[in-house]
Amino acid sequence: MRVTLSVIKADVGSIGGHTQPSDRMMEAVREEVAGAIDRGLIVDGYVSHTGDDIAIIMSHTRGENDTDIHQFAWNTFLRATDIAREYGLYGAGQDLLVDAPSGNVRGAGPAVAEIEFEHTLEKPRPAESFMVLAADKCGPGAYNLPLFLGFADPMFCAGLMLPQMIKGFTFHVIDMDNTAGDSLIELNAPEDYYHLTALLRDNERFGIDSIYSRTYDTKAAAVSAQRLHSIAGTYTGKDDPVAIIRNQGVFPAPEELVSPFAKAHYVGGDARGSHNMPLMPVAINTAVAGVYCLPIVSCLGFSLGRDGHFSDAVTDFFDNVAWDEVRRRAQNKGNEMRLQGWSGPAMLPYTELEYSGFRDTVTGLVDRFQIRGSTEAEAAE
Ligand code: 13P
Ligand code: MG
Ligand code: MG
Repeated sequence: MRVTLSVIKADVGSIGGHTQPSDRMMEAVREEVAGAIDRGLIVDGYVSHTGDDIAIIMSHTRGENDTDIHQFAWNTFLRATDIAREYGLYGAGQDLLVDAPSGNVRGAGPAVAEIEFEHTLEKPRPAESFMVLAADKCGPGAYNLPLFLGFADPMFCAGLMLPQMIKGFTFHVIDMDNTAGDSLIELNAPEDYYHLTALLRDNERFGIDSIYSRTYDTKAAAVSAQRLHSIAGTYTGKDDPVAIIRNQGVFPAPEELVSPFAKAHYVGGDARGSHNMPLMPVAINTAVAGVYCLPIVSCLGFSLGRDGHFSDAVTDFFDNVAWDEVRRRAQNKGNEMRLQGWSGPAMLPYTELEYSGFRDTVTGLVDRFQIRGSTEAEAAE
């Protein structure tokens, strides 16, 4: 059978500031998902949150960009928005940027990652396992470094030296500044390694959109690389990307994929979406309540049964004592960066503040600059 995995996530309101959705909202979303399973729209579904973002994780047979699946997610987020409004929660409906999307919700605010594949539970995929990454208070390129390392660097993924992976992977990279449409380039690892890093170093402009196995010509990973502020034209929060990554066998193993997150690398995002701070791996359903925000990322592992059902439990990769050390390091890195407040790399560059109120403040001052010697008082001297 052909199965599609879809993750659609949105921030539609949170308690006490931009921290986490309320239990009532989560219950409503879970109820909608149970209803969608009952009426056969989806095969299975799972609901979680990472900071203030609710993720709906679904398996179904309708393919990518399916109108019914996307409309279901949209309407579910509308119901959660109503609850957020009723209880006066912060940012109710924040990521629902249009009145009613016709068709799919890409470009309408929610983050979307989807992978469709042939699901047989036979060679080369006798088992189908995958991971879902969800990050909060993050720019869209937050996964550029860890996914590149996991799929292209044997220092992190020794599996790349095995026959089933030695041909490497094809990266589809998206230019997120191009608002005319999805503007993509295909680059192959290992031979385009340096070209890939030349693009992926710029987390704010270029993002990994998807990754394909070159040996098996099948999609390994999908990322919701899009920029909310390019879509909305005005700052409406950070993109807070999600990703689906198939693992094991012909793909990297979970440990190879999560180990780059031990870097707690700096990403754009954090407070007012305008700072550079380290990405802290956290357990699923964690609130953003740290010192000065701190970007967070969660990682859930699933297995997929023969008929497309999820395993009866999930693996919460970052909910493990091994990550305590990384969390401490992330906080220390964050503390170090915060020592310099607004100066230089502590905040994002001007272009990244472009559509926020920070830009208005700066441009208001830029208008008042004068060339030395050009004022009347100076001319009279
Ligand atoms: P969210 O995008 O998670 O709502 O964060 C917005 C923000 O500006 C945090 O300070
Ligand atoms: Mg928010
Ligand atoms: Mg968020």
